[in-house]
Amino acid sequence: MRINLPLEKCWKMLNHGPVTLITSAHDHKTNVMAASWATPLDYDPPKLLLVLDANAYTRRLVDASGEFGVQIPKRRIAEQTVAVGQSSGRDCDKFSRFGLKSFAAQKIAAPILEECVAWLECRVIPDATQRYDLFIAEVIASYVDSKLFHDNQWDFGTDPLDRTMHYISNGEFFATGERFAVPTLE
Ligand SMILES: Cc1cc2nc3c(=O)[nH]c(=O)nc-3n(C[C@H](O)[C@H](O)[C@H](O)COP(=O)(O)O)c2cc1C
Repeated sequence: MRINLPLEKCWKMLNHGPVTLITSAHDHKTNVMAASWATPLDYDPPKLLLVLDANAYTRRLVDASGEFGVQIPKRRIAEQTVAVGQSSGRDCDKFSRFGLKSFAAQKIAAPILEECVAWLECRVIPDATQRYDLFIAEVIASYVDSKLFHDNQWDFGTDPLDRTMHYISNGEFFATGERFAVPTLE
């Protein structure tokens, strides 16, 4: 059976790619927010797409600096991931409020977060359209937790708190699940 899905709910069908945390910095201010709407766009040079709401404080910092960090959080910081998606850096320092530890990025001014499986440092491509709050950015540095990604493969091991998360809504996630393979065409 197929049932019609109200159009205003159709985003939910694609929402559960890995949730990301977006860090930003400008003029001695730093911030972090949650973002589900991030996707790869190109291999070489690597680019990605990100939707950044015009009302987010992050948007102001990214518009001003032309840079942002994308991190893929572990389940260990699920609660903080939702919290930074429900509060604004306009009102508080979310790093200290939610106990998020960070370290210096390689190529951008935005801080980079601990307790993530992968990190992408991005520079906004300025002439790309922002008409729909859509940002196209080039990835200028990327690194991963070698315990969880090695030999070009994910290996999430046995600790469930090391898994990536896929946001549904209202504080609910799926955790990345079982790996399986099918024969491929050569
Ligand atoms: C799990 C989750 C995913 C989110 N995904 C996005 C997103 O892709 N794009 C966006 O603009 N806002 C997204 N939001 C909302 C922002 O994180 C939220 O507006 C946040 O308060 C902005 O913070 P800021 O004002 O400090 O930048 C998401 C929120 C949650 C909880």
